[in-house]
Amino acid sequence: MKLTSLFSPLTIGPYQLQHRVVMAPLTRMRAEKPSLAPRPLNVEYYAQRATPGGLIIAEASPVAATAFGSPGVPGIYSEAQIKGWRAVVDAVHAKGGVIFLQLWHVGRVSHSSFQPGGVLPVAPSAVPIPPEMKTGTADGKSTTYETPRALETSEVAGVVEAFRQAAANAKAAGFDGVEIHGANGYLIEQFLQSHTNLRTDQYGGSIENRARFLMEVTQAAIGVWGANRVGVRLSPYGIANGSGEPDPMPLYSHVIGALDPLGLAYLHFVEPRSSGSGRAEVNWQNVPSAMLLFRPMWSGVLISAGGFTGETADAAIRDGHADAIAFGRIFISNPDLPRRLREGFPLTPYNRATFYGGDVAGYTDYPVHDELEKA
Ligand SMILES: Cc1cc2nc3c(=O)[nH]c(=O)nc-3n(C[C@H](O)[C@H](O)[C@H](O)COP(=O)(O)O)c2cc1C
Repeated sequence: MKLTSLFSPLTIGPYQLQHRVVMAPLTRMRAEKPSLAPRPLNVEYYAQRATPGGLIIAEASPVAATAFGSPGVPGIYSEAQIKGWRAVVDAVHAKGGVIFLQLWHVGRVSHSSFQPGGVLPVAPSAVPIPPEMKTGTADGKSTTYETPRALETSEVAGVVEAFRQAAANAKAAGFDGVEIHGANGYLIEQFLQSHTNLRTDQYGGSIENRARFLMEVTQAAIGVWGANRVGVRLSPYGIANGSGEPDPMPLYSHVIGALDPLGLAYLHFVEPRSSGSGRAEVNWQNVPSAMLLFRPMWSGVLISAGGFTGETADAAIRDGHADAIAFGRIFISNPDLPRRLREGFPLTPYNRATFYGGDVAGYTDYPVHDELEKA
């Protein structure tokens, strides 16, 4: 069956996309060390996945040295990193692609071994991720999460400023826009959700107060880029990294209602059924669909991600549930994913063992369809 909806054009902000197969943001932990700048291997990886009029959302990139929770992740706060990203962007643009950068602060999903000076990671409140969930230290040892240090009220503006500077750095690197990472249990979501935000200042308590940090970060990015080049990613009903709001509907209705009038480039959901798929193969049953629930509250472009096939993506767009679909795991193993979906070619399965860290293997060595044909 021809996937005509998935392969119809779409306008996102000032950009005219030729199809709606978006590359989801994917942490791969293969930046140069110790600069944590993108290197030529990363340029090759993104160039392999670029298509004319196709949108790539580049992997989550820490906005400051204090924003990390894993090794080998590319940052967006130093000159070397800006230069490294510029090479990635130039290669994607050379193939006619559009590329946004996802801006990241992990908050409590970190360990003191990643922090400058070995201090505790910061979070809205001193609430640790439960000990059943393990993490790794900077030198690769398995450990439990520490109790983070709660940010002082006077420090929050500095974190917003780090996002603003990172947005400006992304612009200097030539990106087409930025995506605010408000999903998957990281700092922004820690502010949004009641069990990780016990604050009594203007950033905690009411839903409006818990949403304030996200709104300030979004406004900071808008100040740099204009709203139509800024996207926001959310994961309502998600459980990744110890997240989970007891009653997500009031919180996310408020957040989406507050973002809607801003005129953003897009809103991007991680579908709950795939929540946590970065760590393990999950396919949660009997969970709500974010796009079905929240689409009526959003008047702009909606991207959804999580467990889509070409057919289900096409149907979601045809039925008006989303405007574009982001693909994660199968974009890792199929560098020519848009073409394979369009032509109905078989997909190469992904190897989870090579998702995070390493070199060429499982990164730039997945074949395109034509190479398989010749083999
Ligand atoms: C290896 C890997 C890395 C990921 N890194 C990120 C990331 O940096 N930022 C983010 O928002 N989501 C990240 N995710 C989630 C994906 O963007 C996507 O939402 C998820 O994989 C579900 O889509 P899929 O079923 O098409 O894989 C990651 C997922 C995987 C598998």
